[in-house]
Amino acid sequence: MNNSDPRRLSVSIVDVGDGHEEEFGRLATAFEALLIAKNFGRAEIIRDEGQPRRFYAVRHWATAESAALCHADPDVQAVTSKIYQVGRVTHVVNGVRKPDPLRLLIEDRRARVEADRRTGFDRRLKDGGSPTGQERRTGRERRLGPRRLRDRPGEVDLVGAARRAREFADAAYSKFKVGAALECADGTIITGCNIENATYGLTVCAERVAMFKALSEGHRAFTRIAIVADTDAPTPPCGACRQILWEFGGNLEILLANLTEEKGKHHLKNLLPLPFDARLL
Ligand code: THU
Repeated sequence: MNNSDPRRLSVSIVDVGDGHEEEFGRLATAFEALLIAKNFGRAEIIRDEGQPRRFYAVRHWATAESAALCHADPDVQAVTSKIYQVGRVTHVVNGVRKPDPLRLLIEDRRARVEADRRTGFDRRLKDGGSPTGQERRTGRERRLGPRRLRDRPGEVDLVGAARRAREFADAAYSKFKVGAALECADGTIITGCNIENATYGLTVCAERVAMFKALSEGHRAFTRIAIVADTDAPTPPCGACRQILWEFGGNLEILLANLTEEKGKHHLKNLLPLPFDARLL
């Protein structure tokens, strides 16, 4: 393979909800067929031996452009949005992400992997050899070698991003600052904060700011949103936000946290039972 090889790879983990395996199987077959029919590349959906409801969705893209066309394709989106309803999708490898220095501003563990690894190797060189016996450092003391990622691959510090976004909240009237961080299907994190206004009524919540920012930048598939306020009791999304999040994000995972701890994890379908959406029009 040389530098001009146009092929690219994306890999996601899909943890299928209990009882949805058959539906997922049908959707996976439809997805595979679409990729071939539309010449985007090919997909393989492979079951994990140890966890029967875990699947690896491997997409072999013909080119980076075919990946972009695939993500924008309405037929594909119709299938993927249903997959998001039956499973939790974690993006592990995105071989079609363009280099973007701005992404490094986000505290994205994947973006920092290289820096961490170099630090580890540099220090190993300086230390010159590993101590033995009593000298040997173990556990937390052991600092040599490449850093290990604390989170699972593909997981980013979404709550941390929401905490930082909260700092930008403009809550002059309520003094109630909220931050949100929305994880898009390609792993991008889009943040939001509440923006108030002298008319009060035109206030926009952090969650909707994040979602509208994401939509306005072309994102159409989402996995999780973190919501942070400086309160002991968690701050769940208001009714208006639940509606918007549901319509554009489906059954998102919702992480609630304050400035120091995580306060709960929910799925949107449980926060918005019997939703009204486009299916009823
Ligand atoms: N707010 C949010 O931004 N998100 C929520 O989930 C709850 C409420 C904002 C709206 C308003 O600026 C302030 O918090 C007080 O309601």
